[in-house]
Amino acid sequence: MYLGLDIGRQYVKMVTAEKTKDGYKVIDAGSRLVPDANTAFDPEKIDRSHWVMAVRELFKQQGFNPKKAKSLITGIGGSSASIKQITTMEMPSDELESAMTFEARKHIPMDGTDAVIDYQILGSNKQEVDKIDVGLVACTKGVLTAHMDLLKECGLKAGVVDVNPIAMSNAFSFVKDIPEDGLVVMLDIGAVSSGLVVYGKGQQFFTRDLPIGGHHFVKELSDKKDIGYIEAQDLLFKEGLAAMVSKGSGEPSVDGAVGIAERTVYDNLVEDMRRSLRFYAKQTGQSFFLKIFLTGGGASTPGLSAFVNEKLNIDCAVFNPFENIEGKDSISVSNSSQFTTALGLGIRGGMINE
Ligand SMILES: Nc1ncnc2c1ncn2[C@@H]1O[C@H](COP(=O)(O)OP(=O)(O)OP(=O)(O)O)[C@@H](O)[C@H]1O
Ligand SMILES: [Mg+2]
Repeated sequence: MYLGLDIGRQYVKMVTAEKTKDGYKVIDAGSRLVPDANTAFDPEKIDRSHWVMAVRELFKQQGFNPKKAKSLITGIGGSSASIKQITTMEMPSDELESAMTFEARKHIPMDGTDAVIDYQILGSNKQEVDKIDVGLVACTKGVLTAHMDLLKECGLKAGVVDVNPIAMSNAFSFVKDIPEDGLVVMLDIGAVSSGLVVYGKGQQFFTRDLPIGGHHFVKELSDKKDIGYIEAQDLLFKEGLAAMVSKGSGEPSVDGAVGIAERTVYDNLVEDMRRSLRFYAKQTGQSFFLKIFLTGGGASTPGLSAFVNEKLNIDCAVFNPFENIEGKDSISVSNSSQFTTALGLGIRGGMINE
C-alpha cells in the first residue's frame, strides 16, 4: 500500500492506494486542519509543531498506522521548487550535471544553501537537432532538509519526495486521457497560493505559483462584509462568488449594483492566469488551451469555474481525482478536488516500484 501525504499550509491530506492489475485501487482518503479548528487561519502563525500535530491526528482520525505503508510519498510545494524544461547542447553527463545546477540556481528562491537537482533527458529538440530537452526539478538543500526533518518529527520514514505540480499532472494523466493535441491547464487553488500547470502530449511542461489562494478569498469577504474569518468562510463555502455581491452591506452604486465595478481577488487571480498563459504561448508558440481544471480546496468555491470560463473564454471545470478510480465508493470526503495532489503522490509509489 502506498501512502501519498500532501502537507499543505492549511490542511494535511492523505490518500492510500494499492496497485491492481490494471491500475490502482484507492483504500482511504482523509484530511485534517493544520491550525486549530474554529480559529482564523493565519499562515504566519503556522510552524512545524502544527504540521506534526496535524499529521499525527490525521492518522489517528483515519485509524491508519503509517508503518503499514510500503512507501511514503510526499511533495515539495510549487512555491519552493522549480520545474523547468530546458533546451541545451548535448554534453557529457558530468558537464550536464553542473550546467543544470547552474541553471537551477537561476530559478529557485536561493536561501544561502546549495541547490538540489534532479533531471531527466527527454530527447532531442524538435527544432535544433544538436540540442536536447531536459526536464529539471530543483529546490534548495534548506527546503529539502526542512521537509525531511518534518517527516522525521512526525515519526515517518522518508520515502520518495516528489514536487506537487508533477504529482498533480500524474493524477490527471491517471484519471483522464491526455488529448493527442492541445494543452491541459490545471490550477491547484490552495490556501496561500495557487499552482498553475500547463502540459500536453509532447508539449512543454510549465508551472508557476500564483500568489492567491482560498485564504485570500475568505479574507476579502471578511473585510468587505465586516464579518469574522470563520463566518466569512462559512458564507464563502455556501454562496461562493455570489456572496460578494448579494445582500451586501456595502453602499449601492448609482446603477444599484453593489461594488460590482471593483476589482476582486477573483479578477486578480484570473489576470495572473491570463498573463501566465500568454507567457506560455509566447515561449512555446503553442496556445491551444483545451480546458482548465480547478483542483485544491479552493476549487469548490461556488461560481468560480463559471467565472474563470467566462473571463478567459476557455472551458473550465472542477477536477475530481476519484472520478474513475476503483474503491472510490468507500471514500467519504467532503471536497474531492482537495485530494488531487495526495492521489498523485500516492500513485507515484507504484510507478517507482515497478
Ligand atoms: N468547500 C469549500 N469551498 C470553498 N473553499 C474551500 C472549501 N473547502 C476548503 N476550501 C478552501 O480551500 C483552501 C485549502 O485548500 P487546500 O487544502 O488545497 O490548501 P493547502 O494545500 O492546505 O494550502 P497550500 O496549497 O497553499 O499549501 C482554504 O483556503 C479553504 O478556505
Ligand atoms: Mg496544497
